[in-house]
Amino acid sequence: MTYPAIEINHLRKGFGSGRKKNQALSNLSLSIQPGEVFGFLGPNGAGKSTTIKLLLHFLKPDHGSLHILGKAVGQEEFRHRIGYLSEFPVFYDHLTAGETLLLSGRLSGMTRQAIDQRIPMLLERMNLTEAADRRVGGFSKGMKQRLGMANALVHDPAVLIFDEPMSGLDPVGRHQIKGLIAELKQEGKTIFFSSHILSDIEALCDRIGIIHKGVLLYSGGLRDFLVAGVGLEESFVQIIEEADRASFA
Ligand SMILES: Nc1ncnc2c1ncn2[C@@H]1O[C@H](COP(=O)(O)OP(=O)(O)OP(=O)(O)O)[C@@H](O)[C@H]1O
Ligand SMILES: [Mg+2]
Repeated sequence: MTYPAIEINHLRKGFGSGRKKNQALSNLSLSIQPGEVFGFLGPNGAGKSTTIKLLLHFLKPDHGSLHILGKAVGQEEFRHRIGYLSEFPVFYDHLTAGETLLLSGRLSGMTRQAIDQRIPMLLERMNLTEAADRRVGGFSKGMKQRLGMANALVHDPAVLIFDEPMSGLDPVGRHQIKGLIAELKQEGKTIFFSSHILSDIEALCDRIGIIHKGVLLYSGGLRDFLVAGVGLEESFVQIIEEADRASFA
């Protein structure tokens, strides 16, 4: 039996309590098939990172369920098949790039031999070979972002979850990450990523989800979403404005 790569059913999550409760996600359901590149869009504060943190079980849902490749998030072993890049990657400043990847590989249960084979390839792929022996504390934002990407790929996971993978990158870095996502798709990986960069979403995604104030406004094919005659930006702005008008009506 093949399972969806990612399945989210009737997810709800709020922060705070009582009258001050902020409903970050309301009844979110999404299904992403193996091999798909899925772009998750929404204005600031829409609930994208909250959804991703729930997928990683860094947060617990108030209601609903999440499955990764058929495994219930938080109840079964599911993490070893996921690679994750956080919105704000954090590392041990005193470790070098190579040591950082070694640590991640060991924590994922890889053998030293497998890690030693994989690290040079990942550093090369992320353009970090020359920085391999430098301490991460001295890395620029873009270098940390690229190291975060290498870190997500150490154990060669089937499902990749990236929270704004292009943020903070210069045009060359962004181009490289786009190329990498396209390569990962060719390898048959499933990629779920959030982004505000609509041209990247347009270039990479099979399907998209649009979330606003915790409510999913659209999920489906990218082409099907585009309003006739206008691009993704215009279509995106239109759906957000319509939702705002409806909530005030
Ligand atoms: N730990 C937290 N405590 C309280 N509120 C939170 C917490 N995390 C998120 N929120 C709230 O949940 C809502 C959704 O936030 P989230 O970070 O998921 O948005 P986002 O779509 O990732 O936005 P951005 O594009 O700015 O990264 C916001 O109102 C935010 O203030
Ligand atoms: Mg976010």
